[in-house]
Amino acid sequence: MDRLVIEGGRKLKGTVDISGAKNACLPILAATILSDCKCIIKNVPSVLKDITTMLKLLKVLGMRASIDGQVVVVEPAKERKFVAPYRLVSTMRASVCVLGPLIGRLRQAEISLPGGCIIGPRPIDLHLKGIRALGVDVNIKKGYVIARAKKLRGANIYLGGHFGSSVLATANTLMAAVLAEGRSVIENAACEPEIQDLANFLIKMGSKVKGHGTPRIEVEGVKRLHGAEHTIIPDRIEAGTYMIASAITDGDIILKGARTEHLTAVIDNLNEAGVSVTNVKGGIRVRRKKALTPVDTTTFPYPGFPTDMQAQMMSLMTVTKGISVITEKIYPERFIHISELNRMGAQIHLEGPSAIVRGVKQLSGAEIMASDLRASAALVLAGLAAGGRTNISRIYHLDRGYERIEWKMTKLGARILREKEI
Ligand code: EPU
Repeated sequence: MDRLVIEGGRKLKGTVDISGAKNACLPILAATILSDCKCIIKNVPSVLKDITTMLKLLKVLGMRASIDGQVVVVEPAKERKFVAPYRLVSTMRASVCVLGPLIGRLRQAEISLPGGCIIGPRPIDLHLKGIRALGVDVNIKKGYVIARAKKLRGANIYLGGHFGSSVLATANTLMAAVLAEGRSVIENAACEPEIQDLANFLIKMGSKVKGHGTPRIEVEGVKRLHGAEHTIIPDRIEAGTYMIASAITDGDIILKGARTEHLTAVIDNLNEAGVSVTNVKGGIRVRRKKALTPVDTTTFPYPGFPTDMQAQMMSLMTVTKGISVITEKIYPERFIHISELNRMGAQIHLEGPSAIVRGVKQLSGAEIMASDLRASAALVLAGLAAGGRTNISRIYHLDRGYERIEWKMTKLGARILREKEI
């Protein structure tokens, strides 16, 4: 296993290229199952472990996938299969997004149940509700979701859960509905840019979809879909993470390729904290305009503040003079980073779904352990700001979601090395 060694205290400066969005790319790759023709997907963050896992899964399902740099070509190779095995789903929860396409195209799917994960329980009841409404018979047997349908018929589907809309349940229901007979309406659909990107790809394949990007998506089912070429949107969470890297190190970073319209809530919070974010030639420039001031953050579904930026925002608040409150409304248990940040001298305590952060002058480097993907990113940010050396062990989660992070950070002036853990 690898670890990262960071010598903190350096201001990050320069330009960083933002990769294609992992969370847009995963359902889009899954959607290629819906077609019998070749699909070409560009701007794929192909170095990421999650993308490699999805390509492996597509192969298991009878698709041929080849990668050339950031371009992935997918087409059906041989006999189609419909079983997503435990060995792949257990390494990547997002494998569940092949459920909708398999049901849509093959009328059957067997998907290993993903189970919970370190950020808390992650049920799939809304995914199942969505496809059941389209006429799919669903059973759970031996840890697998067994789904079969003689035919799919369009339906009105309400997809709200206890924590609001669901991104991948919306993706699965939408991907099944595009090949159903008749009209479907998905209410309380997720509005995330990743869902908009998926819908745009489905439209290029010949689907009839309207209203994506709003809580009401309308679909007119078609008989078959053709191949398509599509470019993945930039990763708003990677961009947000580099924004905080600039703010936390008092640096000056230009994000190349990022889109401010996908980051409104993050930019609003950063502005309130005293960070300037401006559009400049070639990207978005981020730097402090004054001393940081505390800002309260509450996560919500898009366009609210993303849960995937909560941990990084907390790192910034640990070195911001004053008290801030960070409330998690999507995954109330997603606070695994707190104890590690406290090991670096942060002063954070948890009260229910809210973390109370009392800013300190400086964090100090320490031996810490990464957990989930975004918590790992938050620890890297803390290490960049800390005095002295930080060793972050178990960084494999980072490789699931951040392309060549140490290379990109080094280019910005960070002292960061990957080492084999002894
Ligand atoms: N939920 C249910 N029932 C369901 C599905 C979800 O109650 O059937 C709940 C979840 O437990 C959670 C809330 O609804 O409380 C929202 O979860 P959602 O379904 O939207 O999450 P997801 O689609 O499984 C995607 C991203 C996550 C990101 C969330 C929220 C992908 C591959 N994953 O997950 O990304 O945190 O949306 O925005 O798109 C990450 O990249 O690090 C990551 C965890």
